Amino acid sequence: MKLRLTSGEVFPFRPEDTIFSALKRAGIYLAAPCGAKGACGKCRVRILEGGFSTDGFANLTANDRSSGIVLACMTRPESDLLIEVPKESLLVVGDRISVSGTKDLAKYLQSYGAYIDPIGKTGSYGIAVDIGTTTIVVYFIDLKTGSIVDIGSTYNSQIRFGDDVITRIIYATEGGGLQELKDAVVSDINALIKTIMERHDIGPSEISAAVIAGNTVMSHIFWGLDTASIREEPYDPLMTRFPIWKASTAGLSMNPDAQVYTVPCVASYVGGDIVAGVLASKLHLKEEIALFMDIGTNGEIVIGNNEWLMTAACSAGPCFEGSGIKCGMRATTGAIEAVRIDPVTLIPSLSVIGEGRPVGICGSGMIDAISEMLLTGIIDQKGRLVEGRSASTRRSEDGPEYVLFHDHKLHRDIVLTEVDIENILRSKAAIYGGISTLLSGAGLSMDTINKVYIAGGFGNCLDVKKAIIIGMLPDMPEEKFKFLGNTSITGAYMCLMSAKLRNDAEVIASRMTYIELSVSGMFMEEYISALFLPHTDMNLFPTVAGLLKKREGSKF
Ligand code: FES
Repeated sequence: MKLRLTSGEVFPFRPEDTIFSALKRAGIYLAAPCGAKGACGKCRVRILEGGFSTDGFANLTANDRSSGIVLACMTRPESDLLIEVPKESLLVVGDRISVSGTKDLAKYLQSYGAYIDPIGKTGSYGIAVDIGTTTIVVYFIDLKTGSIVDIGSTYNSQIRFGDDVITRIIYATEGGGLQELKDAVVSDINALIKTIMERHDIGPSEISAAVIAGNTVMSHIFWGLDTASIREEPYDPLMTRFPIWKASTAGLSMNPDAQVYTVPCVASYVGGDIVAGVLASKLHLKEEIALFMDIGTNGEIVIGNNEWLMTAACSAGPCFEGSGIKCGMRATTGAIEAVRIDPVTLIPSLSVIGEGRPVGICGSGMIDAISEMLLTGIIDQKGRLVEGRSASTRRSEDGPEYVLFHDHKLHRDIVLTEVDIENILRSKAAIYGGISTLLSGAGLSMDTINKVYIAGGFGNCLDVKKAIIIGMLPDMPEEKFKFLGNTSITGAYMCLMSAKLRNDAEVIASRMTYIELSVSGMFMEEYISALFLPHTDMNLFPTVAGLLKKREGSKF
């Protein structure tokens, strides 16, 4: 049996194939946040000709089904098939990866009172690597001067096995796919190194050192270590400190004897990327109490100063990256990234990445949309759509939804459903609840925080005011917030270049008190209070209370 695409390409089916696996083998990757388990509804394809059987429909509507839409991961051929793969189902790679923080890092290194003292010492070049669940960034460094020779970035091709770390652990353990996942990340890094080496006429033997910073799951997979215990009680990873292994052990295309340092992890869900982030923020060196938060696929937070550090992982879930949201997507071309709703006409105006036709909505767009919907009375403080308030609100098979964009051509509207809003509220409540729990644990209140450092890809496109309106960030003056970009790679650079800062990273990891939120009664209470927009205790959000009062006064 054969699989034909409307583009004209033809691929063979194997007997065990779903449409998803046949496309994957042909190098066509579909978005698969659930790891091809039939749960996320993102791997939609349209069958134009042929017989098939299907095992599940997730969130497909009757309309979708009658127009031939199926989930590729749940559908098997019964004859040759002709299919159309919609653009929004394709896994987008190589687009808009934020590589911020490329300031003069050699100078920044000196500001710690550290001098150039690289790991491995003798060679000419080294690499600092940030292995994110979604993206990988490599800094190629001249070890003598500390200058950045070049930078490479790519999507982590493990995405094709699932969006979040839990799906990857399941794939590694239940599917026996650990080696496959390791190979994926190592070959991503090697491809980046190779391109840079060719561009600068540098040979692999000249690269003599590497530092890896990643979350605990990514660090384990990179070294081929078993990840099973991370998701089983008592949720302890196999290791938090890693020996300095050789590049040949990792399979990196560089001097085989090169030393590879892994930034230490703290716990199962607070990894080396957060330790590197704290190192880069200098939070651990200052007397003032600061909050460090990395809002990515997960949501890790650290509170403290030069005397103490507390940390937690918020299990915010990857909804800000598009998972679990009907029209959600990553911040790539076609994503609605900002929304403004006219308070009088209630008509939304959208800003789209790449300025073309929108195909979905990304995290910053979701936060914008919800804050605007709240301030214009389209939703109430529970996140429910107010009936009759806006002509863009309608009821569909998935329940009430708000239409952001009518796609008359493709008959696929971009909407935020009430269920989407609930999911987003859960994520923001997990983040805010995590912050309040850590603060309460330390016997402190929100106003003791002097600075909020925001790290991660989300960072720079996040509108702080809007994030405060929905109650994701504490209600504080804007000047207290500082976007740091990718602190994981900055911290990895510091560890590559300085023995003193490698030691600091070890000290930060050992000083951090980890609070497991999933067993904390206090977290549950804080989380539930934060499920409201912005919060059940409006005294915590005086600015938002003022805005809502103004709205009431404007008699809608
Ligand atoms: S439903 Fe097919 S990948 Fe999630």
